[in-house]
Amino acid sequence: MPENKLVEVKDLSKVFIIGGRFFGSKLVAVNKANLSMDAGKPEIFTLAGESGSGKTTLARMILGIIEPTSGHIYYKGKDITKLKNKKQKSWFKREVQPIFQNPFEAFNPLKRVETYLFETAMNFGIAKNKSEAAQVVDEALRAVGLSLSEVYQRYPHELSGGQVQRTCIARALITKPSLLIADEPVSMVDASLRMSILNFFHKLKTDYGVSIIYITHDLATAYYVSDRIAIMYRGYIVELGPIEKVLTNPLHPYTQLLLESIPKPDPDRRWNKRIKLADIEVKEYMALGCKFANRCQYAMDKCYKEEPFDVEVDERKVKCFLYSDEKASVGSKI
Ligand SMILES: Nc1ncnc2c1ncn2[C@@H]1O[C@H](COP(=O)(O)OP(=O)(O)OP(=O)(O)O)[C@@H](O)[C@H]1O
Ligand SMILES: [Mg+2]
Repeated sequence: MPENKLVEVKDLSKVFIIGGRFFGSKLVAVNKANLSMDAGKPEIFTLAGESGSGKTTLARMILGIIEPTSGHIYYKGKDITKLKNKKQKSWFKREVQPIFQNPFEAFNPLKRVETYLFETAMNFGIAKNKSEAAQVVDEALRAVGLSLSEVYQRYPHELSGGQVQRTCIARALITKPSLLIADEPVSMVDASLRMSILNFFHKLKTDYGVSIIYITHDLATAYYVSDRIAIMYRGYIVELGPIEKVLTNPLHPYTQLLLESIPKPDPDRRWNKRIKLADIEVKEYMALGCKFANRCQYAMDKCYKEEPFDVEVDERKVKCFLYSDEKASVGSKI
């Protein structure tokens, strides 16, 4: 696998068995997902889609937290499911850092926050002693607009939500990662902080060369901060391309529906509401053909029978038969 790719996800699937191993049903949470990010070309890549579409599952596979059922994930050319020894695993953990939705969950309320930062610096061998660690920690905190003296000796509840989230990000930065995976990192902070954290992501990309996978329901912030976007629907990536193209001229009927759901008038394209479908039926996951066919106003006969493949249209990949006749199929490679 070429090392000019930072991440390459190939035909990645995760199947959960619900309701027992023998009598249970299969739920394909992520279905043959393909995406890649270039090394040396930092970008903010958004994963969007309604609740249950598979965003977190895909992110957790890339983080190595859960194992894929099939497919591959390469990070800087290495298959991360095959990292052999402790050294390789520790390298990967340093390189790819998670940022979770609720920063308070990341910290034990009875432990002072700087303890986590010092532990990270020491455990990953970034610092050899306490004074070196203090330097590393302070540097990471300053990158997020805080400093060690501001958080020193303080418990999580003694900091504001925004400070805790920034401390989480600082912790992630201590290992000097090349990739951050942020799963709804700003959904629990207020609007002004949301923008300051997103601005900070932008700064991380431009000043520190860090790439970010940003998972969100909020297409307005996605539009504001990201370079590319992948829209997920029932485990599939249905449209992937430059943010401007996808959000201003959506091609997949599902992306069109998502954008229509932004309330109008919408001077700054706010879209904070979670779209929630009726509970996902396992039957629907198992149905043949396109998972969106039942809701699609353009559905054709074959949409109910055959699984659509990715078609390259206007700088993006769209998983829809509407575009397959006029354009050459590019298989499932993205
Ligand atoms: N450990 C699990 N066991 C069984 N099913 C799971 C498990 N984790 C996720 N799922 C199912 O997989 C599907 C995708 O879930 P996932 O959490 O990836 O969605 P999501 O896009 O992150 O949703 P949200 O926007 O609500 O966070 C859902 O139907 C979910 O119920
Ligand atoms: Mg999720």
